[in-house]
Amino acid sequence: MKILFVNASPHGQMSHGYRLAVEMIRSLGRNMPSALVKRDLVSAPLPPITQDYAKAITSREPDVSRFDVSEQLIREIEMTDALIINTPMHNFTVPAALKLWIDYVLRVHRTFAVTPEGKVGLMRDRPTFVIVGSGSFHSGDRAWQGDFLTPYVRYALQSIGLKTTHFVLLQGLTHGDEAVTDALRRAREEIAQHPLFAHRDTVVS
Ligand SMILES: Cc1cc2nc3c(=O)[nH]c(=O)nc-3n(C[C@H](O)[C@H](O)[C@H](O)COP(=O)(O)O)c2cc1C
Repeated sequence: MKILFVNASPHGQMSHGYRLAVEMIRSLGRNMPSALVKRDLVSAPLPPITQDYAKAITSREPDVSRFDVSEQLIREIEMTDALIINTPMHNFTVPAALKLWIDYVLRVHRTFAVTPEGKVGLMRDRPTFVIVGSGSFHSGDRAWQGDFLTPYVRYALQSIGLKTTHFVLLQGLTHGDEAVTDALRRAREEIAQHPLFAHRDTVVS
């Protein structure tokens, strides 16, 4: 199994979501040979969208050399069987680093087609796990803030054909050690229920 791991947390390896992603990758690797492609959007930031790229993407006869970054990122998805994205919630939605990745990966005539019925994804579906770290709560009984992250990411990925998305919420990460432990326990239990991890030496440790 080939796995693409996309990290959008500025905390890198110190991020709880990052560590959980590593546990998931190890768990998958224990029972089947796995290869990992890592795309760290923070330690190696993507270049901003330039005027040349914006022109090319809307042109009928684009200068395809402008698509190099986009092409690379799309191929990283194409060559893998599963995606794991680790993202924090920043101001109710995705951090800028992940938004830029989305802006390169969602490309008309390449990863989606425009049809009378709307945009139709051109990529093969594959399981996609999105680990969402948040300082406080945006889902469940304790929710007190808006969540423009999970519906947006689900919609964006679905628009290119990645329909099987599974969100793993790590909430309350700034509410002390107990809250962190609780969030990780819930997340591990949830992941262990997923068919890809069920009946395996799961991430529950
Ligand atoms: C710029 C910025 C904006 C943030 N906005 C939110 C927010 O809207 N809601 C929230 O619950 N936490 C917010 N946080 C807190 C992070 O989501 C929290 O620190 C989380 O642990 C980040 O996950 P990570 O450790 O994987 O990076 C924000 C943090 C930063 C740096």
